[in-house]
Amino acid sequence: MSDLLDPRLIIHPQRTTLMAALAQQWLRTGTEAIAARGRFDCALAGGSTPRELYALLGQPAHAKHLDWSKTHIFWGDERCVGPEDPDSNYRMTREALLQKVPLPASNIHRLHGESEPSVAAEVYESELRQHFGAEARFDLLLLGLGTDGHTASLFPGSPVLDEARRWVAAAADPHVAGRWRLTLTLPLLNAARRVDFLVAGADKAQPLAQVLRGGDASAALPAARIRPRAGTLHFWADAAAAWLCQAS
Ligand code: 6PG
Repeated sequence: MSDLLDPRLIIHPQRTTLMAALAQQWLRTGTEAIAARGRFDCALAGGSTPRELYALLGQPAHAKHLDWSKTHIFWGDERCVGPEDPDSNYRMTREALLQKVPLPASNIHRLHGESEPSVAAEVYESELRQHFGAEARFDLLLLGLGTDGHTASLFPGSPVLDEARRWVAAAADPHVAGRWRLTLTLPLLNAARRVDFLVAGADKAQPLAQVLRGGDASAALPAARIRPRAGTLHFWADAAAAWLCQAS
């Protein structure tokens, strides 16, 4: 079901139907990428919302539809913690999806949150450049939306928002004193062929409406800076998150 107001917005009444529909789209995107270019390069979102989506993708009824040997998994960001830390986006993804599908270990491109942040950013950038060459384009970039309008680990007012050259940067976590994060930067994020935001829950209604509204009201929101240069952009939302976006 799409909202007539904004073609980028895809609304599903329930969180469960939203996750099921996005899982189908994710698999379609992957299959098409492999058919077109021989592999599927996907950057995943962290946080808590996508866990349900990843768990669906890990179910045999879904997983059987993708050639995991040609699928490469990256992350849009990571907390600067070890891979076994409860806050690790990698751990969340491994538990929900990676340990359930036949993905070669060499196809899992983990951000090393346990390393010194600036070193981890440089290492990941080298890994990206080795994988993609000079022109890095994810076939699919999955992003979440924070209640403050952040996405990946691009937070409002962060100097990383002005990064024009590097693909990976360390960013201070404004929500956890002394905690750092690793994030892909806007030049790389906006090179993606397809960007899908997954937004669910009433607490995301305000930032989602603000991002979609555009203009000055959204200028301060990092999520509003996601504008794929040569790709598609969609916001997949449940009714709770989209209620401020619908026709009044
Ligand atoms: C992270 C994410 C972050 C997330 C949003 C939404 O590491 O936290 O990458 O950008 O997508 O904060 O998080 P929730 O889905 O948990 O609300």
